[in-house]
Amino acid sequence: MSHMKKLFGILLMTAMVSGTAIANDDEVQARIAPVGSTCMQGEECAAAPAPAAAAGPKSGKDVYTGFCTTCHGAGVMGAPKFGTAADWAPRVAKGKDTLYTHAIGGFNAMPPKGMCAACSDDEIKGAVDYMLDGSK
Ligand code: HEC
Repeated sequence: MSHMKKLFGILLMTAMVSGTAIANDDEVQARIAPVGSTCMQGEECAAAPAPAAAAGPKSGKDVYTGFCTTCHGAGVMGAPKFGTAADWAPRVAKGKDTLYTHAIGGFNAMPPKGMCAACSDDEIKGAVDYMLDGSK
């Protein structure tokens, strides 16, 4: 139990060093509430993952907006551009399975999983579908 005390001490010290006084029990309750149910003081609320999004798989659109658009939005390093059918036509001609395999495993300058290491294979496939659908 002593390490718990130590941890709490560190938290208290951090609170004091940062100049925040612990005002009342409600505030303490709010601070020790599990992340996601409340916003920590001084933190962006948006940084906490929304419970609904964390519960299920990410949509193809979410994965695209979060990761793929970095390169595929503007066509960085020769990445086929989102929304440009001419960029995608020769890719589509290889067959969807090849595109899935390349998106998941990487292909030349295309990084494995488009750098979304936490994405499942299905989420990556969803992002490929989203790009293909939006680039016809
Ligand atoms: C760091 C930049 C970068 C990111 C991030 C990125 N891509 Fe790519 N992607 C590329 C480049 C560059 C190519 C072209 C590679 C080539 O043809 O040599 C490419 C090609 C592809 C292709 C075509 C593969 C083929 O066989 O022709 C697919 C599909 C693809 N990316 C899917 C994705 C998906 C899905 C994501 C997001 C999860 C993503 N990419 C994120 C750079 C990126």
